Amino acid sequence: MRTLSDLTLDNATVALRCDFNVPLDSQGVITDDLRIRAALPTIEYLLSRSAKVVILAHLGRPKGQVVDALSLAPVAERLAELLGRPVNFVVSRDAAEVSQRVAETPTNSVTLLENVRFDPRETSKDPSERETLAREWAQWAEFFVSDGFGVVHRAQASVTEIAELVPSAAGLLVQSESDVFAAILTDPARPLTVILGGSKVGDKLGVIESLLPRVDNLLIGGGMAYTFLLAQGKEVGQSLQQPDFVEDVRSFMAEAIELGVRLLLPVDFVVAESFDANAKTQIVSADSIPADWMGLDIGPLTREEYAGVIAGSATVVWNGPMGVFEMEPFAGGTLAIAHAMAESSAYTVIGGGDSAAAVRVLDVDETKFDHISTGGGASLEFLEGKSLPGLAVLKGQ
Ligand code: 3PG
Repeated sequence: MRTLSDLTLDNATVALRCDFNVPLDSQGVITDDLRIRAALPTIEYLLSRSAKVVILAHLGRPKGQVVDALSLAPVAERLAELLGRPVNFVVSRDAAEVSQRVAETPTNSVTLLENVRFDPRETSKDPSERETLAREWAQWAEFFVSDGFGVVHRAQASVTEIAELVPSAAGLLVQSESDVFAAILTDPARPLTVILGGSKVGDKLGVIESLLPRVDNLLIGGGMAYTFLLAQGKEVGQSLQQPDFVEDVRSFMAEAIELGVRLLLPVDFVVAESFDANAKTQIVSADSIPADWMGLDIGPLTREEYAGVIAGSATVVWNGPMGVFEMEPFAGGTLAIAHAMAESSAYTVIGGGDSAAAVRVLDVDETKFDHISTGGGASLEFLEGKSLPGLAVLKGQ
């Protein structure tokens, strides 16, 4: 993969792709700025070369329309605060006007263009449409630096097409995230433990298939665990379940035995009468989930067992919460995993998305983890062993 040292960036105009898809509250205030902070090293590196940095980024899925609530204006403000310097925010999407604004900007400066997804060509399924948009940027960009790790699994104009039009390379974030996940797949310190949670087992089939032959321990939690219980012939009451995937799950369990992989399922759960933070709860074993109740978190025995496995591991990778951590009575399992990882001496990696959000919502010290990914879908697809278009394009000529 080409990296920053492959480009002669001094005084150059650089199009920089960042993933500024940050969560906003109902007032449009950024509730988690991890992705903005993660972009700073590359921006600062480019500024140290006196580059004119012009950032391309998206927020949400506006589907090719201008959606005021998805404007990058709050991001421009936060970025300026974090950098301690002004950020020129360009709202216009008119190609000539954008070129003009970029031309007028001095070197050693930072400009952020409005949400690239306001233009339907950014996410068009037709590569030639995407290319027409990328050509507009290529009019002013001398180089393209790809640093939005969270979006490298997408074939989109600001990720793939532009990379083919001007000399391009990975930024520091894309490089470090790629190195971390590549090492997990190829040469992890062992024992390697992967913890998978989250609500839908269907979303994790690819990653389980890819990781089973590589891991020593696979710990399952979250809403996806109930489909594993179904595969064991257990009753799961009103818990989330995906019966369509029972066969896949059953074959994973058989494969784990064949490979000598320890695949652990929860032995107990916190169950509730309804999906409500104030619902009546109780702790039950995995064999006795009452018919009218639903499992919303892993129970205390499971937490202890999983923490023991984590303590005995050399590498731990976690993707997906263990329960409905957004509701306090069902946050204990997720918190227990986060604490066990934070306390372990293993190399610890949190896949992005919900588990990364959980660590921050639950106020666990982020500095205790070796790597917190900024990519949700991207990190999962990387672990699935898929070729990611935004990385593949940085390898080709
Ligand atoms: C993410 O939040 O995972 C990335 O920003 C990608 O967003 P997308 O799933 O809308 O492409």
